[in-house]
Amino acid sequence: MIKSKVSSTFQDAGALYDFMGHAPLEHDKKNNLSFVNLGYWHGLSAFAKGHLPRSNHALFNLVCRNAKLSAKDDFVADIGCGFGNAAVLCATDYDCPNVVGINISQYQIDQSIEKVASHNLQHRVEIKNMSATDLQFDDNSVDKMVCVEAAFHFDSRVHFFKEAFRTLKPGGILSMSDMVFNKPRKAVHKMILSRLQDGLYIPSANIYGFHDYMVKIREAGFVIMDARNITTLVRPYFRRWALTHPVSLVINRNFSWVMSTIGFIVYPWEYMYLVAVKP
Ligand SMILES: C[S@@+](CC[C@H](N)C(=O)[O-])C[C@H]1O[C@@H](n2cnc3c(N)ncnc32)[C@H](O)[C@@H]1O
Repeated sequence: MIKSKVSSTFQDAGALYDFMGHAPLEHDKKNNLSFVNLGYWHGLSAFAKGHLPRSNHALFNLVCRNAKLSAKDDFVADIGCGFGNAAVLCATDYDCPNVVGINISQYQIDQSIEKVASHNLQHRVEIKNMSATDLQFDDNSVDKMVCVEAAFHFDSRVHFFKEAFRTLKPGGILSMSDMVFNKPRKAVHKMILSRLQDGLYIPSANIYGFHDYMVKIREAGFVIMDARNITTLVRPYFRRWALTHPVSLVINRNFSWVMSTIGFIVYPWEYMYLVAVKP
């Protein structure tokens, strides 16, 4: 753990996920799946066993469906690929012939490579250590880009928008889900947010609401095809799940880190999905 300008605890978001290690939320042992997102809970219950992994899977599918993925997409990139679940899904369920998952957490990269091998997909899915803000892809080379709940970490999100625009082909689609942290109005939220920014690696440059989000994506050159606030299908469910699974949340964690990020449960963050096209 090294001091950086964003966090006094973590050098970058990769160090945060290296620290979180395996099964940060819940591990679906039956299917050997580890997830690090808050889930899309449409038709699911926060109290039913196994519904967190189902909601995580539903979120991947929402973002992949929105991208209209198909076998015709020669090159698909999953940005901030976690444990490689969505990258594998792009190949298995959406028939994408070449998928690259990128991440900056070496722990998750190693786990993702193992996951790809366990599906015998090495010829179609590659996992690379690469930052979303410095994409090592040629200009106009990517057909579709999916990014599930990762952009709030990027330093900064706008740098990523520019990189996505540069590397997508004309007509290429960027499909994302993301957490939105608006500028806090109450003193208590201000205090909680500064702790969350430190403990969860959220750069100050990414603190703005939906309206500004849309302005920034358009400024990068994209045309917005669809954008929705889906907070009501994420936050109350995840909150209920978290409050009924305190042990899952703190297991293997450093106590002071848990205490500094506990405000996440009460903070009024919002959640959205966005589909944008490069004209
Ligand atoms: C909340 S997790 C979501 C992971 C995965 N998309 C999922 O839904 O399971 C955020 C992910 O973004 C990755 N990440 C954060 N900053 C990144 C960056 N600058 N470049 C690439 N990946 C990054 C983290 O390592 C982590 O895997």
